[in-house]
Parts: sequence; structure tokens; C-alpha cells
Amino acid sequence: MLADRITRHLGNPSHGLWGWILKKFFERNNRFLEATAVKLCNIQPGNVVLELGFGPGLGLQEAARRLTHPPGKLYGLDISEYMHDVASERMRAEIQAGKVKLFVGSVEQIPLEEGVVDRVYHCNCYYFWPDLRVGSREIRRVMKPGGLMVTTLRLELLQKMVAAGLLKGTKWQPELYMEALLESGFVDVRMEDHPMNGEMFQAIFAAAKEA
Ligand SMILES: C[S@@+](CC[C@H](N)C(=O)[O-])C[C@H]1O[C@@H](n2cnc3c(N)ncnc32)[C@H](O)[C@@H]1O
Repeated sequence: MLADRITRHLGNPSHGLWGWILKKFFERNNRFLEATAVKLCNIQPGNVVLELGFGPGLGLQEAARRLTHPPGKLYGLDISEYMHDVASERMRAEIQAGKVKLFVGSVEQIPLEEGVVDRVYHCNCYYFWPDLRVGSREIRRVMKPGGLMVTTLRLELLQKMVAAGLLKGTKWQPELYMEALLESGFVDVRMEDHPMNGEMFQAIFAAAKEA
């Protein structure tokens, strides 16, 4: 079915026509949500930051701009090789300078040491994770105590997509993700509504408990 096919590609855009169309779609529609996730993260110039599911890399550009002092460093992890290629091209200068490092892989196995990341953000991404609890635990593992995680989403759009037959079999409901975050040792887990060009979008916050 077409809806299932689109859902599959949204969760792992591949090289080819579908991937290219979705890349254009993300670039056209998601800049604001990506930029806002970065803004709400309150990144400090020397922070170590991780973006999950970076897609074409618009949020990476925003975050890298804020990391102006060493040891400021930006990591990105996306399961799609195509998105990794696109974002690597977009971030070529910063990667060459050693300020940004991008990985292909899943949130279930983040290729970073324990307790090294100050800020984690992601946008339109958790719906596709195979297991929200495993993903949340893994995020918590790599974060420093006192660190902050932010994700942005458009709940109304998600509901419309579901009504259209998309996202079948995914865990798109924010409550499910928030439950998983709490169970993984995050504190102050909350969702806020924010205005966006006459609509609303949502931001979920979760803090890694201080030691
Ligand atoms: C809908 S796209 C959103 C891309 C971008 N964040 C945006 O908002 O434009 C979802 C992204 O999450 C990535 N993704 C899906 N499952 C993932 C996982 N388990 N681990 C890491 N990335 C994942 C996909 O490859 C894709 O790039």
C-alpha cells in the first residue's frame, strides 16, 4: 500500500526517487521545527551536542553555529545512509574542521561513551524507533548528569497523517515517548505547546538527573 511505503521511506529515506522527494520535503517544511529544537535546547558555546535523526541536516547547521568555543562539538546519528550523505555534504566544512561528526546507525546503539553529551535534540524522529524504551535508555546513557533533551513535533499534523493511513505500526503518540523517558531515569519530563505561523507545535523536554 502507498501509505505503508511512504511511512517506510519517512523512517529511513533511501537513495533513489523516494528519498530525493522526502529530502526536498524535509528541507522545505521542517527548517522551523529543527531550528526551534536547537533554540529550546539552550546550547552553550562549549557544549557537546547530539542530534538524532538529522535528516538532510538543517538542524545540524543551526546547532553548529552556536558551538563557538572548544570543546564545543556536534555529533549526529541517522539510520539512513542517504541522509548521512546529504547532511555530510551540507556540513562538509565543519566536518573537515573536526567540529562535527556524523554517524550512520540507530538510536538503540549510539556510538558514544557514557556521560559525554550536554544536549540532545531531535525532530520528527522518535516515531520510527523500534523500541522507545531502549532508545530513551541509550540517550540517557550518553548524557551528562544535568543535561537536557528536547524534541519537537507537530501533533496536529501527526494526527492528520494517522487519519490518512500513514505511520501505521509506529509509536507516534507523545505520551508513549514521555513514559519511556521517565522510565529511563529522565526527570522534569513535560510537553509544551508553542505557536508557529498560526498553528501550534509541541516540544518535549527531559532532563538527565543531576548526580
Ligand atoms: C521524518 S525524518 C525527519 C528528518 C529531520 N529531523 C526533519 O525533521 O526534517 C526521520 C529521520 O529519522 C531517521 N531515523 C529513523 N529511525 C531512526 C533510528 N532508529 N535511529 C536514528 N535515526 C533514525 C530517519 O532516517 C530520518 O532521517
